[in-house]
Amino acid sequence: MSLPSPIAVTGATGMVGSALCRSLRDHGVEVRRLVRSRPAPGSSDVYWKPSAGEIDRDALAGIEAAVHLAGESIAAGRWTAAKKERIVSSRVDGTRLLSQALAALDPKPRVLVSASAIGFYGDRGQHPVDENSPPGAGFLAETCIAWEAETRPAWEAGLRVVQTRIGVVLSDQGGALAKMLTPFKLGLGGVLGDGRQYMSWVTLDELVGVIEHCLANDGVHGAVNAVAPGAVTNREFTKTLGRVLGRPTVLAVPKFALRAAAGDLADEALLASACVRPTRLQETGYEFRDPELELALLRVIP
Ligand SMILES: NC(=O)c1ccc[n+]([C@@H]2O[C@H](COP(=O)([O-])OP(=O)(O)OC[C@H]3O[C@@H](n4cnc5c(N)ncnc54)[C@H](OP(=O)(O)O)[C@@H]3O)[C@@H](O)[C@H]2O)c1
Repeated sequence: MSLPSPIAVTGATGMVGSALCRSLRDHGVEVRRLVRSRPAPGSSDVYWKPSAGEIDRDALAGIEAAVHLAGESIAAGRWTAAKKERIVSSRVDGTRLLSQALAALDPKPRVLVSASAIGFYGDRGQHPVDENSPPGAGFLAETCIAWEAETRPAWEAGLRVVQTRIGVVLSDQGGALAKMLTPFKLGLGGVLGDGRQYMSWVTLDELVGVIEHCLANDGVHGAVNAVAPGAVTNREFTKTLGRVLGRPTVLAVPKFALRAAAGDLADEALLASACVRPTRLQETGYEFRDPELELALLRVIP
């Protein structure tokens, strides 16, 4: 695999960003992290502040690619009006600022790989969706549509632009799985709602591999679903995680209790169903490391 270098990475301190930067450096890539506080003199980090429209363009000179992962956490905390505003503005303003800065560089980088999410598809019941499917409805779908649209200045300037619609990232380092591990280990894990909603997942290592595939292959552009081929229902996920941990999963969390505990997040993220197929990855020859849930969990959980 021939990766571009140097690569600028936003959201580099996050769960995905830190794993990606580690892997890129292991491949010999020069990484420039975009950070929101002024870097110390001599640091390879690059200052940007999306909320203030500030970015150190000079420090981006010479980059061959950018990976854009930054955004206010979607799953942490209740969706108050202020939190929703931060979820949207951090993505829309940050993507626009970065895309415009990349478009203005001379020479221009070749590729921008920008995060999006399977929230793009909304709640699709039992029907599988892929990159050719239209967007769904709701706050997350509208956020993803606006987020992806802000890459426009980069593709208008001739960069190859990839929007990775990321599924639920499985890692013991953070995110959804790390939150589930304690209750499940205590035997308190259970099906959410009726458990029929599909959950499209991807392991953290796989996601890093997918982003590197998108960086390295000129034939990859536009929307790419970053999910494993083996999406499962919440019931199957619950039973599989219980089996891997050797714990019972007899409880069920009713919808009303989820809504009381998590507000709008319950309907849009925990109860929404999206059986997402990784069609573009399969068409472009990506080889999955973790295609099947039980083996993936056995590998991910220490
Ligand atoms: N984890 C998942 O299951 C999942 C699923 C679908 C999509 N995604 C998307 O993938 C991307 C990376 O996910 P992740 O799990 O690594 O997220 P994360 O751990 O929450 O990290 C996101 C990073 O974004 C930056 N950030 C946080 N709040 C911000 C704000 N208000 N304005 C600008 N930047 C802000 C921070 O980096 P700095 O402090 O260094 O700037 C943070 O480390 C995100 O855009 C996320 O929405 C993740």
